[in-house]
Amino acid sequence: MASPSPGHAVRPAHDADDGPARELLTAAGLPLGGLGDSWRRWVVDGSAGLDGVVALERHTGVGRPVYLLRSLVVRPDTRATGVGTALMRAALAGADAHEGGRAAVALLTETAVGYFERFGFTATTREALPQALAGSAELSGACPSSAVAYWRAGAASS
Ligand SMILES: CC(C)(COP(=O)(O)OP(=O)(O)OC[C@H]1O[C@@H](n2cnc3c(N)ncnc32)[C@H](O)[C@@H]1OP(=O)(O)O)[C@@H](O)C(=O)NCCC(=O)NCCS
Repeated sequence: MASPSPGHAVRPAHDADDGPARELLTAAGLPLGGLGDSWRRWVVDGSAGLDGVVALERHTGVGRPVYLLRSLVVRPDTRATGVGTALMRAALAGADAHEGGRAAVALLTETAVGYFERFGFTATTREALPQALAGSAELSGACPSSAVAYWRAGAASS
C-alpha cells in the first residue's frame, strides 16, 4: 500500500471546495448526484487547487447506520503518491469516531476495482448491501449496474 506522505494533509471540506471538487470528479467521470447531501467531505490541498476529495453519506434505517463512501478522486498528476490512502483513512476514521467503533461502510466502483481491499473492504453484490442505502443517488441510478459493490462490516457493538 502506498504510504501517505506527511504532505498529504487531509482536512474537512469547506463550501468553497465544492466547485473544485466537482471539477475533479467530473474530469474523472464520477457521478455528482447526491454529493451535496453527503454527510461529510474531506479534501487534500495541492499546489494547483485540490489534490483529492472523498465523501461519506450516512444512512439510517432499521439497525445501525450505514455509510456510503463515494466521490474518491485524486488529481491525475498526484496519483500513486498516497493521497487516496490518506483520504480513505480519514473518511473511515471519521465514520468510526462518529459510531464509537468500526462503522459499516459500503461503496460502488467501476474504476478502482482492487483498490479497496487494502482498507478492509470485500467485494459483494449490490443486492447484499443494506436496504438503508437503497435511496442513495448512487444505488438508485447514478452508478451503472456494472459497478462493483464493496462492503466493510461494522463492529457488532458499533
Ligand atoms: C483510485 C484513486 C483514488 C487512488 O488514489 P491514489 O492516490 O492514486 O492511490 P494511492 O497512492 O493511495 O495508492 C496507490 C496504490 O493503489 C493502486 N491503485 C491506484 N489506482 C487504482 C485503481 N484505479 N484501481 C486499483 N488500484 C489502484 C496502485 O496500483 C497502488 O498500489 P500499490 O500500493 O500496491 O503500488 C485514484 O487513482 C483516482 O482518483 N482514480 C480515478 C477516480 C476513481 O476511480 N475513483 C474511485 C471511485 S470509487
